[in-house]
Amino acid sequence: MKLLFKNIKELLQVRETYIDFLSGKEMNILPSIKNAFLLVENGVISDYGEMKNCPKIKVKTIDAKGKIILPAWCDSHSHIVYAGNRENEFVDRIKGLTYAEIAAKGGGILNSAKKLQETSETELYNQSKKRLEEVILLGTGAIEIKSGYGLTKDAELKMLRVIQKLKENYPLEIKATFLGAHAVPKEYKNNKSGFLQMLIDEILPIIEKENLADFIDVFCEEGYFSVEDTQLILETGRKHGLVGKIHVNQFNAIGGIQKGIENNALSVDHLEEMRNEDILDLKNTKTIPVALPSCSYFLGIPYTPARKMIDNGLPLALATDYNPGSTPSGNMNFVVSIACIKMKMTPEEAINAATINGAYAMNLQHKTGSITKGKLANLILTKEINSYNFIPYSFGNHCIEKVFLKGKEIKK
Ligand code: NIG
Ligand code: FE
Repeated sequence: MKLLFKNIKELLQVRETYIDFLSGKEMNILPSIKNAFLLVENGVISDYGEMKNCPKIKVKTIDAKGKIILPAWCDSHSHIVYAGNRENEFVDRIKGLTYAEIAAKGGGILNSAKKLQETSETELYNQSKKRLEEVILLGTGAIEIKSGYGLTKDAELKMLRVIQKLKENYPLEIKATFLGAHAVPKEYKNNKSGFLQMLIDEILPIIEKENLADFIDVFCEEGYFSVEDTQLILETGRKHGLVGKIHVNQFNAIGGIQKGIENNALSVDHLEEMRNEDILDLKNTKTIPVALPSCSYFLGIPYTPARKMIDNGLPLALATDYNPGSTPSGNMNFVVSIACIKMKMTPEEAINAATINGAYAMNLQHKTGSITKGKLANLILTKEINSYNFIPYSFGNHCIEKVFLKGKEIKK
């Protein structure tokens, strides 16, 4: 099966060789070819170049005149498997309650956990697949999905099984993360260590045996899990073959980033509150910072200081955080826009952060995130636009005409 795109106005994120991620110093360059062709064979990018070198072959061809092609978005942080919504809390927040006050009165993560515990696996799958289908049409070609709205053995495993089923049934790349340590359930209110022990003794061995997760995550935050809890979770996860990724510095900077680095976490996510030492300690590590600007937008909390981090040489990835409480949106186009508008990232930096750096934050950098021979043909074909700057400029909208996953067009 071959597919040829010809007359592409500009082919973005072209990288001849495989790379891990781009540091802050490299992120402002988005390599591209103008007036290009792209050949896909058996779902994989097999060739590309200038139109003058376009192979003269009789295969299915798409004329991309006036249109741009870029790799599909890589969303390295989401919670799209959840039951029901929390629009009442949204209204409470408009009326002045904070995220912490809402959680204290029984809302928040525990509210979603209750709903999820009462929802069957089939129903949970059906609700979640709609969100997945929605984000695919918005150009997402790889996504990480977390558990963490179950908080009991059965409900956490139910979430992970739903993720596994999504993986089997959809053509995008999916990575699963065990986020059992997302909040302390009521039954363990005065026994947090008992809850952590339950996660460790009862759930982790099953996850390992059934290969239900790639990563382990913990919400390291005042009122949730401490730096010591984070150490325990990351260390135990590692023993079960899971790489760390942490929710950290969302509301308070308590030293979780340093724990993440010490434990070779793949990513540290949120980072709305960053101390100078947090930035300095992340330098020259393999742990990639991940910003979630849609969460800041929705909650009205500070944005991750992306400019300062990038100017200090740190790499950065962008992701959605799609979840019912802090970010009910999985739109990577919006994330890229708002990163430019609110965090003053350049379009080049934002597109790099949402593709190649996002791929690294899921350990998928050898499969997707750039136009490189041998990588999956997960592609966004834009409408006719003047330049790629129009992608972040047209905020709240998107410029996508078609999405291709493994070389196949995704139909509505
Ligand atoms: O990443 N911060 C922790 N977890 C989620 C939100 C959880 C919720 O409110 O349901 C997040 O923002
Ligand atoms: Fe999150």
